[in-house]
Amino acid sequence: MKNVHSCDIQPLPGARFGGVVDVSDGVAFVAAVEADPGQLPQALYDADGFLLLKGLSSISDDPELLIRLSRPFGDEVEDYATASNRQNLLHPASSHIIRISNMPPMNFAPPEQPDPPRTEDGALPVQFPHRRGWHTDQSFRRPPPDISLFYAHQPAPRDQGQTLYADGVGAYEALPDDLRAQVEDLLALHVAPFKGYGEDAVMVGDPPQELNERDGPQPQPVVRTHPVTGRKALYLCEREQIDWRNGPFVGMEPGVTGGGRDLLYRLMEHFTQPAFTYAHHWDQGDVVIYDNRCTIHSATWFDADTVDRVMWRTTVWGNPGPYYDGEARSWEVA
Ligand SMILES: [Fe+2]
Repeated sequence: MKNVHSCDIQPLPGARFGGVVDVSDGVAFVAAVEADPGQLPQALYDADGFLLLKGLSSISDDPELLIRLSRPFGDEVEDYATASNRQNLLHPASSHIIRISNMPPMNFAPPEQPDPPRTEDGALPVQFPHRRGWHTDQSFRRPPPDISLFYAHQPAPRDQGQTLYADGVGAYEALPDDLRAQVEDLLALHVAPFKGYGEDAVMVGDPPQELNERDGPQPQPVVRTHPVTGRKALYLCEREQIDWRNGPFVGMEPGVTGGGRDLLYRLMEHFTQPAFTYAHHWDQGDVVIYDNRCTIHSATWFDADTVDRVMWRTTVWGNPGPYYDGEARSWEVA
């Protein structure tokens, strides 16, 4: 078994991808990461873009630890004060951290339960379209971000508020030949959620809101080659983070009933089948590090009337791959 900063990396239980590390002393672990900053990113790449660190509760007392843990993953830990539309999410200790929470002032409502809320065998629904909300972070910007770190400061009870992850490399490699041929050079149109461009808004005829440079829409390749591992991965969102007015795909029939819709549904159903997914049940002090270039994820319901959930997130930028070489940032308009 491999080792990272004197901790064993174990395979992620219940998944065919990912790794888990038990950390006994969070402060010492972060110091060890800084002393040899190449190790933890390499461990992430070796684990197919998903790493769970357990036992980092000390981040709650010192939020800077989460930022220090993020820095080895890229050139820039996003400063949400300058780049986000949602200033109410900023952590009071640092604008490099956002708080995803149902509590004020964030007021981030959890998604509804799937219908029905469980599968026939009583499991948490994971596969699209029974499960909705699959996305990769900020795909409506070009170039998109590399990696997110998600910390459970105050998670929901374990049977609520899970986060689901899917492995884009495994899903790509298992694509049927006809689908692979269709997506190899295909672009999808990604847009910021809840702006009237999502599938539901278009279906019921809601008018689109005005978009700014932070919102997209932006085309992104459906197949991305990872700049470090060289492996190809599916890269796609659905529902709210796809432009259903002009997309889902560039050069295909647009809208919620056309040929583009049929292809997106087929791809997402394939991408999120149990063989490529993992459902994370959060414990306080967990950090999940996920590579947005080769994984997607989806939030699940919790009872916001009785549960106050507070998660912290950082986002790391800087290595989207040669496909984006020389591009100005789409959200920075001179
Ligand atoms: Fe996300």
